[in-house]
Amino acid sequence: MSTETASTDIASSDTASSSTASSDTASADGTGSSLTVRDNRTGTEYDVAITDGTIRASDLAKIKADDEDPGLAVYDPGFVNTASCRSSITFIDGDKGILEYRGYPIEQLAEKSSYLEVAYLLVHGELPSRQQFDAWEHKITFHTFVHENVKRFMEGFRYDAHPMGMLLASVGALSTFYPESRNISDENIRQLQVIRLIAKMPTLGAWAFRHAQGKPYTYPDNDLGYAANFLSMLFKMSEQRFEADERLIRALEVLFILHADHEQNCSTNAVRSVGSSQVDPYSAVSAGIAALFGPLHGGANEAVLKMLRRIGSVDDVPSFIEGVKGGKERLMGFGHRVYKNYDPRATIIKKACDEVFEVTGVNPLLKIAVELEKIALEDEYFVTRQLYPNVDFYSGLIYEALSFPPEMFTVLFAIPRTSGWLAQWLELTDDSEQKIARPKQIYTGGRNLDFVPASERWSR
Ligand code: CMC
Repeated sequence: MSTETASTDIASSDTASSSTASSDTASADGTGSSLTVRDNRTGTEYDVAITDGTIRASDLAKIKADDEDPGLAVYDPGFVNTASCRSSITFIDGDKGILEYRGYPIEQLAEKSSYLEVAYLLVHGELPSRQQFDAWEHKITFHTFVHENVKRFMEGFRYDAHPMGMLLASVGALSTFYPESRNISDENIRQLQVIRLIAKMPTLGAWAFRHAQGKPYTYPDNDLGYAANFLSMLFKMSEQRFEADERLIRALEVLFILHADHEQNCSTNAVRSVGSSQVDPYSAVSAGIAALFGPLHGGANEAVLKMLRRIGSVDDVPSFIEGVKGGKERLMGFGHRVYKNYDPRATIIKKACDEVFEVTGVNPLLKIAVELEKIALEDEYFVTRQLYPNVDFYSGLIYEALSFPPEMFTVLFAIPRTSGWLAQWLELTDDSEQKIARPKQIYTGGRNLDFVPASERWSR
């Protein structure tokens, strides 16, 4: 093995000037400093620039054992420690339990803002003036209707179609109704699709719900606000106007605000990854809906309800907890990949529970949930593993109290997440550093095999 120790500067051109700076001049996130790595295959040392607490994977590709070597790569299944973009939309500090949209704490937004204002904030980066908000609200209200052919298309689904499958297909189908949406380099066209998508999601979601119930699809009532109109499309029957209780409308708004964005999660990554091919936003958002459909992403609150029902009574909570500690069970709605202190969304949802149950009557499963939380938060098993209630622990109880069947829970997540997906998609399309998403692989299959035609193989 070579013992050469010459140091090679492989910093990317845009960070080269900082790569040789001493650590004295580095900022807290390492910007201005560098990482020295020694390749023990060749003995060569390399200086790799640190920027924003990261090194560039493309810099590592310059580390080669010999001229034939394609260069060092990073193996990171699930992107557990890989930053895929720069983003100014959502900030999370998992250790401190902080979630901010465009710098505004989620607690303040949930208490003082509306979903449409938060959607504006996410999409445009700043809070709207009165005039900007009025125009935004008017445009979104104006676009709530969908083409009648979309309705007919949805009516063609089987009577027992899963509403999330219907939503996913219908959103994808919208791209055929708006062919101009493929022109993603035109800012006005992009903004129009953003408005259409945010406006039409409740309509499509409500129709998917009515379909499963065999009820006629209800058209939007554009005199109602965003959440109130959604409730009307879900539950209106023969009355002139469906007027939901203000407290329920507000609770739904709060749930929508809490679910609007959550930085680079599985579905957002799907939207960005598919969007990086420069496809239209309907196709990219339908990819996000597909990702959210999976039980590891959008489906945990349904699992919480099933778990609470299985436990059955407060008396059975201690034995269930023992089962969890013994590895026989999992306490659904507890734990998070990022939040290791508490999930700020869970705290807000727990408060919203009280307001909803004031109207609907208390969900009897609440007592079991509260007891589970009480015991778990004191128990050494959960404390040492930093397991706290997450956003899904209480949200299913609210949805059930609002008369939603469990299959609708993910639809209720997808509707508000659309503004986050679109904010991320707009950011992607404006980001000159982005390229078509194309990860590497470590190939583990055979090589250079001789192909024998089927006629010869089968006659052997
Ligand atoms: N119940 C019991 N033990 C748990 C739980 C739980 N809910 N979550 C984690 N643990 C234990 C796990 O067994 C492991 O223990 P040990 O070190 O003895 O092996 C330790 O805690 C670390 O767990 P992990 O699986 O390495 O943690 P992770 O970051 O990979 O998983 C999680 C995070 C959310 C998938 C997991 O906590 C979980 O499965 N929770 C229940 C499902 C759930 O509520 N999911 C919704 C997440 S919030 C949705 C969103 O933000 O989009």
